[in-house]
Amino acid sequence: MANKKIALIGAGNIGGELANLIVQKQLGDVVLFDIPAKENFAKGKALDLEQATALSGHQTIVKGTSNWADCAGADVLIITAGIPRKPGQSRDDLVATNLPIIRDVADNAKKHCPDAFVIVISNPLDAMVYEFKRRTGAPRSHVVGMAGTLDSARFALFIAREANVSVTDVRAMVLGGHGDDMVPVLSYTTVNGVPVKQLVAKEKLDALIDRTRKGGGEIVNLMGTSAYYAPAAGAIAMAEAYLRDQKRLLPCAAYLDGEYGYKDLYMGVPVVVGGKGVEKIVQIELSTDEKAALEKSAKSVQGIVDVVKKSA
Ligand SMILES: NC(=O)c1ccc[n+]([C@@H]2O[C@H](COP(=O)([O-])OP(=O)(O)OC[C@H]3O[C@@H](n4cnc5c(N)ncnc54)[C@H](O)[C@@H]3O)[C@@H](O)[C@H]2O)c1
Repeated sequence: MANKKIALIGAGNIGGELANLIVQKQLGDVVLFDIPAKENFAKGKALDLEQATALSGHQTIVKGTSNWADCAGADVLIITAGIPRKPGQSRDDLVATNLPIIRDVADNAKKHCPDAFVIVISNPLDAMVYEFKRRTGAPRSHVVGMAGTLDSARFALFIAREANVSVTDVRAMVLGGHGDDMVPVLSYTTVNGVPVKQLVAKEKLDALIDRTRKGGGEIVNLMGTSAYYAPAAGAIAMAEAYLRDQKRLLPCAAYLDGEYGYKDLYMGVPVVVGGKGVEKIVQIELSTDEKAALEKSAKSVQGIVDVVKKSA
């Protein structure tokens, strides 16, 4: 059986780590795409990764390119095209640069990979995935944004360190938009079923929530650019759930058509991801405070989506 084909649009920091994880997990063959000015860079990264397979024994082809025709027929498309944040910038500050980029990517994706399961990572995430879907007209089952898996992983790590438990036992759930208003949902956050509130004092939990909300900025301030290992891992969990029909329940930015009371908006919600893509948006019960926090987050997302719509 032929390997699945995974096209990575953007061969930068996240793109390179995505390719590496795809090889390690043997999810499929990789096309590492970037703009013509970065074609050699993409080719170099691809070659470097392929040479590593001679040592690891993985049977994977990795091809660098700036030709969209090489992405034709991809099963999965993961989009990181655009610029990342620098210290002092918010995700929303990226919209002017990244909007024309996502539109260019959407037009080419529609032409060359119309059947792919698409995971958008570029920021500002919720607005970029909204614009990708609007521009391509692709079904909502096949266009999602990655943020919730990353934000939940960050929250889980902070809880594990504070409670001194294994991070593999922490089930954390962060919903809403991928911004400073994101919503870590305590009522669904447990250490193997034990509510986190029983293990970590309220003031400490509040501090962990605050650190999670600012988790991206913390790394930008340390490194001078955005995180890439955990963002890549977050997207790979989603891609693997689709390619291997795992039916995982993951927090993803999904297109809402009435769910949670929102329409025509992308936002992080619990989603079952399987071989048909977004198979279900799970509507969980939220406390009054959590609903209010989700509403605040939705308003922030809507604000940036309105900017995007105005310039359509
Ligand atoms: N959703 C999340 O949780 C999350 C987390 C971290 C970073 N991000 C975002 O992901 C994006 C990528 O981050 P990175 O660190 O990999 O950046 P990077 O600068 O290392 O890589 C981005 C790549 O996109 C390429 N590119 C630009 N225009 C393109 C186009 N039209 N077609 C194809 N490729 C194009 C660039 O040449 C560059 O190589 C940024 O917008 C960043 O803010 C999102």
